[in-house]
Amino acid sequence: MAETASRRQPNPYRPGFNQAPMVFAGRQEILDAAGEAMEVAAFDGRTPRPLILVGPRGVGKTVTLGEISHAAAAQHSWPTVHVEATAGGLTETLTVRLRAVRSLLEGRTPTDRQRGGARITGAKVQASILGVGGGIEVERDTTESRRSLDAELRDTMTVAMEREAGLLLTLDELQNASSAELHALGGVLQENVPEGWPLVVAVGALPSLRGKRSGRLPTYLERAEWHTLETLPGSDARAALSGPAERSHRPMTAEAVEALLALSGGYPYAIQVAGHFAWRASHGRTAITEQHAREAEPRIVADLDQLFLSRWEDASPREREYLTALAAAELSHPAPNGGHVAAVLDERVTAVSYLRDRLMKKGTIYRDGAGGLRFITPGMGDWVRRTANPR
Ligand SMILES: Nc1ncnc2c1ncn2[C@@H]1O[C@H](COP(=O)(O)OP(=O)(O)OP(=O)(O)O)[C@@H](O)[C@H]1O
Ligand SMILES: [Mg+2]
Repeated sequence: MAETASRRQPNPYRPGFNQAPMVFAGRQEILDAAGEAMEVAAFDGRTPRPLILVGPRGVGKTVTLGEISHAAAAQHSWPTVHVEATAGGLTETLTVRLRAVRSLLEGRTPTDRQRGGARITGAKVQASILGVGGGIEVERDTTESRRSLDAELRDTMTVAMEREAGLLLTLDELQNASSAELHALGGVLQENVPEGWPLVVAVGALPSLRGKRSGRLPTYLERAEWHTLETLPGSDARAALSGPAERSHRPMTAEAVEALLALSGGYPYAIQVAGHFAWRASHGRTAITEQHAREAEPRIVADLDQLFLSRWEDASPREREYLTALAAAELSHPAPNGGHVAAVLDERVTAVSYLRDRLMKKGTIYRDGAGGLRFITPGMGDWVRRTANPR
């Protein structure tokens, strides 16, 4: 049958956290800012301000850091040191990873670059340096922990500069680091980094990192270039959704794109989920049609519901009441504050602020830059209004 593809094609969508998409859409402003920081560091002999990407879960902070890492490798042959912060482990992990990258750089002779050989490619960086999805495992080694971060950074930078390279440092989930660790890191990066090191620092974090501002964040991070990641605007969401299908020679019809976008909104995680199930529903066909999108709908909805359900089940009965009130308040205010939520509950703000604080600490809700309260997983307010019953 002409309509039937002859062989099984792998699904080009990547539903899951930390999964680099086949088509990375939008975020141009951030990529430009990172590109500029690397140019400044590589060619102007100035160490640029760090970049900080904040946003709720699943908007693409980690994969954007990955894109920046690819650019560092492709444009400048810079390696990346990637660390996912865990409470209490930041300094040690960073030290160990710096050392691993130094060893890798030492494997290159200083003249490799001039000869055009042994360039660190994006693929190699992914496979051997980036911590995402494997790579270098960190072992707690007592001799390592004695070696200070400061000394290791200095040694690694020296080796990098001898090889006419620089270094990209990506620090993900930085909200997990304690205030003491952030200050230690800020101290090393701010006070001990000489002006002119080719070092670029890019951070990914939940919006709660902002809460550590106002005195509690080291000046180094406060004066950083902050970027807020939100859901993707329409045209970028369309590109993220239809791009992988197009590239895999099973294009989506315009109607299918619209039907799937209605389910996912511009939420990048949901876009990958929607694409994934629509691809599956169109198995063996040469295009993804609206009919396939409709067939995929229950699975897409069930997958996203699971995400919301796990957050809901993690909440106490009183916290669920607060979440229900927040979802109700969203109908009259796009980003309601604590006062609006308390009004729905018919309580004083101070009587329920402990619920708000607990939910923020759990990472179920967050406060945006303007003081509004939001669900950390886009679409959850809608889900709460549809399905959840306060107990
Ligand atoms: N710009 C983009 N274009 C296409 N897909 C994207 C984009 N950004 C993110 N995604 C997809 O969204 C999903 C979530 O991305 P990612 O894990 O980077 O989010 P995150 O913000 O780091 O989430 P978390 O806060 O949970 O760590 C992945 O499936 C990824 O492929
Ligand atoms: Mg992430």
